[in-house]
Amino acid sequence: MAPVCVLVGAMGAGKSTVGEALADALGVGFRDTDADVEATAGKPIPEIFFDDGEEHFRALEHAAVIAALESFDGVLALGGGAILAEKTRAALAGHTVVFLSVGLSEAVKRVGFGAGRPLLAVNPRATLRHLLEQRLPLYTEVATLTVPTDDRTPEDVVTEIRAHLRR
Ligand code: S3P
Repeated sequence: MAPVCVLVGAMGAGKSTVGEALADALGVGFRDTDADVEATAGKPIPEIFFDDGEEHFRALEHAAVIAALESFDGVLALGGGAILAEKTRAALAGHTVVFLSVGLSEAVKRVGFGAGRPLLAVNPRATLRHLLEQRLPLYTEVATLTVPTDDRTPEDVVTEIRAHLRR
């Protein structure tokens, strides 16, 4: 079993919005590894970062990605930083992985003040600029398709992904 599609991309790329719309269109389930991590830890992501540290969060995240890749056949969205781990990128090999790309201005607009996203607690714009630059090569490394999302509706993005999936 494997997800019909794995969505990667930065915070604000639209993974949840597009993922839910894509899952609806395909008649399959939607799953988000952030939610899986929160369920395992029994607390929201900001509390995991605060209480246990980012390293612990990343370990839970890697385990959540591996579990979902093995047991889920719908549309799977990964947290924006999941691709930081080399072993997570390796596990994505052979899967259909769509990178939702987003420019800095649009990402800033979509995440607002970064509520619920601990990495954006201080200076969200500068942090996002850094993360987008640092992670771009990692997203493209794992992606089988890159779809720009700036100035596009979720429906438009879904149509492009479905053409790639041929379903
Ligand atoms: C993170 C992105 C978040 C969440 C956590 C860390 C990151 O997920 O996993 O706050 O490192 O980019 P979203 O991309 O779904 O917001």
